[in-house]
Amino acid sequence: MKVIGIIASPRGKNSSTLRLLEAAIEGAYQAGAEVEIVDITKFRINYCKGCGSCYSKGECSQEDDFSYVMDKILDSDGIIFGSPNYIDSVTAQMKTLMDRMSDAKHCQLLDGKYGLTISTTGGGGEEMVIRYMNDFLIGCGATVIGGVGAAVGRDPPSINAAMEKAFMMGKDLVSAFSEKRVYPEQEVIHRIFRENFGPTIRVNKEKWAHDYLHWVQKGWV
Ligand SMILES: Cc1cc2nc3c(=O)[nH]c(=O)nc-3n(C[C@H](O)[C@H](O)[C@H](O)COP(=O)(O)O)c2cc1C
Repeated sequence: MKVIGIIASPRGKNSSTLRLLEAAIEGAYQAGAEVEIVDITKFRINYCKGCGSCYSKGECSQEDDFSYVMDKILDSDGIIFGSPNYIDSVTAQMKTLMDRMSDAKHCQLLDGKYGLTISTTGGGGEEMVIRYMNDFLIGCGATVIGGVGAAVGRDPPSINAAMEKAFMMGKDLVSAFSEKRVYPEQEVIHRIFRENFGPTIRVNKEKWAHDYLHWVQKGWV
């Protein structure tokens, strides 16, 4: 099993979120996974231009580092997203990656993969950021085992308990993948997405030729 950790804090080795992510990655490694951390703030990932090329052709019109990172995500069985809270949300770098992954949502490209998310904050709100990233991964078809965070500005020692939890959750990510764990409520979300988005795919079948073909091949339309 391969597990990729995506860190979206621009603070490099000073990042508290990276410390938690590293603990989760260590847990996954000790449970037998092949692991890698990718710091997306070090890559050139431009804003999505909204051109729809990914929907029509299955590939982005921009030549930057996005496809390198995306290929790594697609090559992984477990995905750990880590972002600090920046103004009650993920960092701009994480949001930019998410926007560029829009076709992964349309085509449910993270189907069969397992996710975990991590956030740190100054004064709180880590649950909100975790929820946002979890919803994104589930929205792309993944199954999420949970999230872990700490308000390190308000309560600096809380990072220690969070690191222990992150380590255990990293291990659990590997167990979830190995046993093909099912979360019924997420299955419902996946099913409802396919039901609700099918008509949009059908209406746009010429404009979104790639996505339509993908849905036909999957037997979703
Ligand atoms: C631009 C910016 C916006 C932030 N917004 C919030 C916020 O809305 N709420 C909060 O609790 N902390 C906020 N913080 C604090 C960070 O979330 C906190 O320091 C976090 O632990 C940083 O993670 P890192 O060390 O991994 O970069 C913000 C920090 C920055 C630089």
